[in-house]
Formats: sequence, structure tokens, C-alpha cells
Amino acid sequence: MSTTETNWESFEQKISAAGTIDELNAVDQELFSRKSGAMTKAMGGLKDLPELDKKNAAKDLNIWKKKLTEQIDAKHKEIQGSGDNDGIDITLELPNKERGHLHLIPEFIRKVEEVFGRMGFDTSYGPEIESEEMNFDFLNFAKDHAARDAQDVFMILDDAPAKNRNLLRAHTSPVQIRYMQQNEPPFRMICPGKVYRKDADATHSPMFHQFEGLMIGKNVTLGHMKAVMIQVVRELIDPEAEFRFRTGYFPFVEPGLEMDMMWRGDLTDSKEGKWLEIAGCGMVHPNVLKNVGVDPDIWQGFAFGFGVERMIMIKQQIPDLRSMYEGDLRFLKQF
Ligand code: DAH
Repeated sequence: MSTTETNWESFEQKISAAGTIDELNAVDQELFSRKSGAMTKAMGGLKDLPELDKKNAAKDLNIWKKKLTEQIDAKHKEIQGSGDNDGIDITLELPNKERGHLHLIPEFIRKVEEVFGRMGFDTSYGPEIESEEMNFDFLNFAKDHAARDAQDVFMILDDAPAKNRNLLRAHTSPVQIRYMQQNEPPFRMICPGKVYRKDADATHSPMFHQFEGLMIGKNVTLGHMKAVMIQVVRELIDPEAEFRFRTGYFPFVEPGLEMDMMWRGDLTDSKEGKWLEIAGCGMVHPNVLKNVGVDPDIWQGFAFGFGVERMIMIKQQIPDLRSMYEGDLRFLKQF
């Protein structure tokens, strides 16, 4: 179609006749659509005209293009209403944007790091694949200790020597060793992370999280240990938390204790709630200090290991820890 043949006036009429934005857009497309718009085609056709006609035709077309564009704009404004609200419907309520949040486990661990950070504890991390030596020997486990049993830990079948095989760490305690090997006493550190055991029921998962703590100084006592642990549990879970300490055995502490906390998440069995173990703790065994070259006649202190999921279950009254790993948004959104 050549420029001259197009009846641009008819477009003027169509624009002025348009009563809705849709109708106006249709005219706009008819004129300016990139493939088949009348104006687009006319502009494209210019190059085929003889040199003499080209200049005049181009001038003509540009005038029409400007005129029609202005008319469309004006009509647009007219249809959308007077210029003072720019056509924006300020009464329209937009739906709230949904924002995600951290999963409750990493969120809890961040809080742990913050609370201990305020008490002057360093945060340290260790590998999830550990040597048997780190996971057991340095921590004063006897060579024939039952915990080494492959029925309880995930051994890795690789080429490591039989006396120092690799495994998925069964606790965060080896990070104590790594930390003491790399730093000079006094020590104040925590180390959160994943640990692995062959266990699975409503309160045990084969992968779960712990955070370990270590405080070594010249006069650090069991009294300090209880003060730190109680303060932290109160800050993290409940200022009125109830707990009890019982004696317990762990090869790397002497004396060793277990800290239990009252759990009222499932009151079907007993109206009283029940005690759940949330941590093991004690005074670091002199053999462990010797193993990392720290003199136990000068330095002493405590260590503890908390189960993160247990604490969250108690805090949020969750009856089954497996719901934390299922990725069900109906569950996760509640926190
Ligand atoms: N590692 C122990 C466990 O996983 C927990 C533990 C007990 C950690 C006593 C400690 C401790 O640091 O002193 O069962």
C-alpha cells in the first residue's frame, strides 16, 4: 500500500469514535502495530519510492504520524477521566505481598549465635564428615565404646585406614577438639551444626541439629556452667522454663550431667507434661584437655551439647519432630 493511498482521515474518525480503551487500542494497533500497522507499512514503503517523491512523502507521513499519535494520547486521557488522578484508581486495595522467612531451625540457630555472642562466645563450625579419631578418640571414648558401633553411626566406606575411618559426625563435640587445637586458652565458643545417627521416631531423626558449647578458663566451675545454660534456655525458650539436672555419663566430661526440660506439647498421656532431655554437659575431662595440648592443672571448664530440634519442639509445642523436615507450608507458615 503506498502512502498516498492511505486515507489517514478515516483513522482520525476512528480515534474520535473510540469509546473505550480497548477500542482505542485497536485503532492504535491498526496504525502502529509493528508488523501490519498502516503507518508502519507506509513508513516501510518509503524506500521503494523514486528519490524525488521520497522526501515529500516522508514529510507528509511524519506530520500524520505526529497528529494521529497526539490524537490517540488525547483520547486516552479523555476516556480515562480528567487529568487530575492520572487514571489511577486510588481506591483499589492491593493484596498484601507474601514474604517468606527462614525455616524455624536456622532461625533458632541464628538466635543461639546471637545470645551466646552477647555473652562473649565465639561461633565456630566443623565438617559433617569427620574421622573416627575426631568423633571418638580425642574425646576420650574407649576403643571398644558402644557408641562406635556401626549400628548407631553412619560409617563411610572409603579407603581410610581401618583404625581411623570416616563417618558422618554423630555429635558436634569434635568441633571442641578442632577449636582447641587451633586456638590458645581461655576458650569461649559455641558450634552449631548438623549431626547424624541411626535413629528415627517422633522425637529422633537420623539427621538433626546440635549446638555445642565450650568454656575453659582458670577458675571456670560447674556453677558457671549451670548459670550459662539456664540463662540461655530462658532467653531462647521461655523466661519461666522449668528444668532439672541429672547425672549422666559422657566420656569427655567428668562429672557429666544431663539437662531436662518440661514439655507440655502432648498432654494426652499425662496432664503433667513430661521431662525431655535437651542437653548433655559437664566439666571437660582432663584427658581431653591433654589430647589437645592444654594443661589440665592450669585450665579447666565445662562443655555442653544441646539438641536444637528438641528445644524447638518444647518452645513451639510441636508433637512430632518429623514435621520440621517435611516442607509442608501449612506447617511452616505457622512460625
Ligand atoms: N555429644 C553429646 C551427645 O551428642 C552431648 C554432650 C554431652 C556434649 C556432654 C557435651 C557434653 O559437650 O559435655 O549426646
